[in-house]
Formats: sequence, structure tokens, C-alpha cells
Amino acid sequence: MTTLQAIRWENGKLEILDQILLPAISRYIPVRGVEDGWKVINNMQVRGAPAIAIVGCLSLATEIKNEEYTDKKSLRRDVEGKLNYLVSARPTAVNMKIAADELIQLANKLTKDDTVNVTEMKERFFEAIEAMLEKDIADNKAIGDFGAQEILKNVSGDHSVRILTHCNTGSLATAGYGTALGVIRSLHMKNSLEHAYCSETRPYNQGARLTAYELVYEKIPATLICDDMVAALMKSRNISAVVVGADRVAANGDTANKIGTYQIAIVAKYHNVPFYVAAPRTSIDFSIPSGDHIVIEERPERELTHINNQRIAAPGIQCWNPAFDVTPASLIKGIITEVGVYRPEDLIQLKNCEHS
Ligand code: MRU
Repeated sequence: MTTLQAIRWENGKLEILDQILLPAISRYIPVRGVEDGWKVINNMQVRGAPAIAIVGCLSLATEIKNEEYTDKKSLRRDVEGKLNYLVSARPTAVNMKIAADELIQLANKLTKDDTVNVTEMKERFFEAIEAMLEKDIADNKAIGDFGAQEILKNVSGDHSVRILTHCNTGSLATAGYGTALGVIRSLHMKNSLEHAYCSETRPYNQGARLTAYELVYEKIPATLICDDMVAALMKSRNISAVVVGADRVAANGDTANKIGTYQIAIVAKYHNVPFYVAAPRTSIDFSIPSGDHIVIEERPERELTHINNQRIAAPGIQCWNPAFDVTPASLIKGIITEVGVYRPEDLIQLKNCEHS
């Protein structure tokens, strides 16, 4: 079966699957440069922390491909300015910022290296950006396998598990396979998944529109619930574990993820259901000691008040629309990364490891 592909990258051309239109319409749109990249990220035609970083960087690659640079310093300046601009498109997910820092570091190194000319510098940039696509898929498969192993060994004592996830962390949110949804995929491939549950994820409905779409597409047994059904689900359906993604994990393990994650973690604690975060190391921000330092994006009221241009909220009401919340480390049993599963207090061991 062909897998869903959020990002198409061929011969220096970038297209993304417009996620605003899913599941009704499946349409790819071109991203011709940084301005397009910023817009599709900001208005959530592409979303999910790893996909944001990859599309941002690929949009830069398409743009510098057609530019003529007379010297390396002007290429470096251009790249740095454009990367910082792309970081501003959505502030909470850290993956784009980490990718930007790594590319700026590479630019600085190549600028100083007298054995590399401006054309070679451009090529090295391209290679580094293209490598991100491959690496993301490989990382997600490793996350899936570590997560499945952890859940089967340490959680259930059961051969067939029931997993709840929130938002969308699958092929549509990454270069492929997915993080939390990758864990569900790996469990399913091992014939160890009895059932997956996904929550609707108001207001943007990533669960109902995107995760449900991926689960049906992959023929994974699954049920959709509204966000306000989580406690009832845990009381009545013997949930084995919750697995969610992350937009930014602080050094102490506090985790920003889609709004509603925090309340699921609280309900899980009450019901003794282990709560896991699945995320690549590029979602961990060791520069901040705790979740108090994470900037939470607030999105337009219209996402709450309207569905498909139809107003559903009473006119005149005020709205608050934070896109993410922070789950404290104390509610998290483990953080599933591509190099293993860590208790939040042990995460710091990963601080000085290279990402490659
Ligand atoms: O606002 P979104 O849809 O970009 O939020 C996505 C999430 O919160 C995901 O859980 C997170 O980015 C991880 S995606 C692998």
C-alpha cells in the first residue's frame, strides 16, 4: 500500500498536501520559496512540529537554488535571515528553530572554509536539508519500535493493547510514519494492537480530520471520540496507555503539545494509565529548564467560532484559543525518542548527543 505523503520533494520542487482541505479533498500545492513556506506553515496547510521544520527548510532550498550569489558571505547572510523568518511562522514547536540553528552553524563553518567555493556551499546546504527528510522517517520508525516494545514489556503484561492518542502525529505531521501514531503503527504491525482511540482535537480537529483519516487509510482498528469523552473512555475501555507527540520538550521533561494534552495526562494519572510522549530529539529544547519558558501560540478566534465558514458560536462571545498546553513532567511516564525511552528526569543524558 502507498503511504500518505504530506511532503513531496522532487528535483528541487516542493509540494505539500493541503491539510486544511483534508479529508474531503486531497490536493497538493506548490511551495515556491520562503514566503510560500512561511504562509503554508502559519495558516496550517502543513502542520506538526517535524513537518513544519522540513517544509520550512525545503522552502529555503527551493529559493536559494535559483539565486546567484557572488560570495559566500552574502549566501550566509541570506540563509540566516530567511531561516529566522521561517522560525517566526509558528512559535511553539522547536524543531524549526533547532534546524535553523544547525543550518546557520553549517553556513558559518562553510563561510570560513577556504577549500569550499560558493557553488559548493550551496550544494552542501542542499544535501544537509535533503538529509533531514530521510532522517525523519528513520527516526520515526525507531521511535515506533522503541515505543511498541516499551508498552508491551512494561505496561500491559497483555499481548494486545488499547492506545489513546491526541491530535495528529502521523505521516501527515512528519516526513513519514509518524511519532505517537508511529508507535500505534508499530504495535499494529506486530499484531499487538487491539484498538486505537483518537480524540477529535478541537478546535482545528486534527484528530477527527487527519488522524482518523490515516487510521482508516491504514486499516488500523480505531474509534474517534470527542475531547470531553476521555475520562469516560478511561473508566470503561481499559486503556493500556496514552501516547502523544510533542512540539517542545523542556530540559526537565515538561512537554508542550496540542491543547488538551494536559487534561488527558491528568485524567490518565487518576485512572493509573501510563502517559507517554513520543518525539525525536529535535523536539527537545535543552536551552530552557522547564515548561514555564515555552511560548504558547494563540490562534485566531475564528478557529473556534466557525467550521468551514459556518459560524457555530453565538455572535458577540469572546474566545481564547491557545494552540498548545504544557504537561508537567510529573505526569509523564516516559519520553520515547529515536535512541530509546527516557524518564523525564533522565532526559538530560541526551543533552550533548549529536542529532545525526
Ligand atoms: O497545531 P499542530 O497541528 O501543528 O499541532 C501538532 C501537535 O501538537 C503534534 O502533536 C506535534 O506537533 C507533534 S507531530 C509529530
